[in-house]
Amino acid sequence: MKVLIVGSGGREHAIATSVAKSSQVEKIYCAPGNAGIAGVAECVNIGAMEFDKLTDFAQEKGIDLTIIGMDDPLVGGVVDVFEERGLRVFGPRKNAAIIEGSKAFSKDLMKKYNIPTATYENFDTPEAALAYLETAKMPIVLKADGLALGKGVLICNTLEEAKEGVKTLMLDKQFGDAGNQIVIEEFMTGREVSVLCYCDGTHIKPMTSAQDHKRAKDNDEGLNTGGMGTFSPSPFYDSEVQKFCEEKVYQPTMDAMKAEGRDFVGILFVGLMLTPEGPKVLEYNARFGDPEAQVVLPRMKNDIVDVMNACIDGKLDEIDLQFEDNAAVCVVLASDGYPESYEKGKIITGFENFDNKDGYYVFHAGTKFEGDDIVTNGGRVLGVTAKGADLKEARKNAYAATEWISFENKYMRNDIGKAIDEA
Ligand code: AMP
Ligand code: GLY
Repeated sequence: MKVLIVGSGGREHAIATSVAKSSQVEKIYCAPGNAGIAGVAECVNIGAMEFDKLTDFAQEKGIDLTIIGMDDPLVGGVVDVFEERGLRVFGPRKNAAIIEGSKAFSKDLMKKYNIPTATYENFDTPEAALAYLETAKMPIVLKADGLALGKGVLICNTLEEAKEGVKTLMLDKQFGDAGNQIVIEEFMTGREVSVLCYCDGTHIKPMTSAQDHKRAKDNDEGLNTGGMGTFSPSPFYDSEVQKFCEEKVYQPTMDAMKAEGRDFVGILFVGLMLTPEGPKVLEYNARFGDPEAQVVLPRMKNDIVDVMNACIDGKLDEIDLQFEDNAAVCVVLASDGYPESYEKGKIITGFENFDNKDGYYVFHAGTKFEGDDIVTNGGRVLGVTAKGADLKEARKNAYAATEWISFENKYMRNDIGKAIDEA
């Protein structure tokens, strides 16, 4: 069969790598892809938001399955466009992707169906938000309702900061229309865990857990980023936490979406915080995490195409999802200065060190070809993943492999997975 993957980051490279392992797949295309994805797929120059061009291409090439990796096209309704054209596609429809596209929607859903989450209020005017803050407990969390590349969340320690935050989101519109409405919610404490789940509209199957590191600098300092590294599994996500989440979060979310007439098919990413009162949902995403996919997918034993097809056909209950009994760590190699300003176009060397090394991966995030060279082309450049028998070994292996790659202005965090030592 022929598969088309939509997206251009490390997540899509991890998806493409898994798809390439499937014996059913004879050809993979990726739109638009990047220099690393080009090693496993034919990259086509169509943007992820060019729905007509994507569907024309899928029809012309006789694509059997399209996998949407990114949030923007999902929230924008790309799945509906594929379905209208009779094309097979993996991902939630627009009316279900709203679970990521609107934080106000997801908070209201959780409240209505008693899914544990921080207490909150939604606001669509700055005046109402400011009035509410006068009597609210600090610290407090402000969230832009819409998509903001994971950056529309402000944690405010004082009333002054919170007022400034309302201005940033709602008046200065730092995240554009995403800030037309905001959620103000209780500040929670605890460890964070990401659990990505396959969903077929009725059934939900969680994958192995992972933890991301969102801040740019060591010790969780610096600005929020798309994610600087991950490890899987999380040692803090024990069987008790898992059982609680299965009973109180995953299936209830699936049932809630169905009850609302918004059957969710695709990947539901549940961001959890393990608070002193128990696990609570921080956020939902409607797709694989980036860089969570880079540690979760290499550990999955199933044929990913079988699992995705079962989701589309409503037969996920027939799949026995299995993960390797090991661990993986991904360290993101970024351009120094990310997520603010940074230089691009630096030649990257050392890829050959990964050839024929079992359990080591170099997933491309922001790279492109310049003649015969591969050069940096984004803030997050590469994700170096390594497996190990346990988390400590995986971390040691991943950091050793980061040394195999060189480029000018290479930057990484040195403490990815440090929390493992506290487990
Ligand atoms: P989100 O995009 O909603 O996951 O938020 C981004 C990050 O902000 C999360 O990964 C948390 O580290 C932090 N965060 C979000 N909501 C809260 C909250 N209610 N309390 C404490 N931290 C939060
Ligand atoms: N790594 C967090 C995300 O993909 O949203």
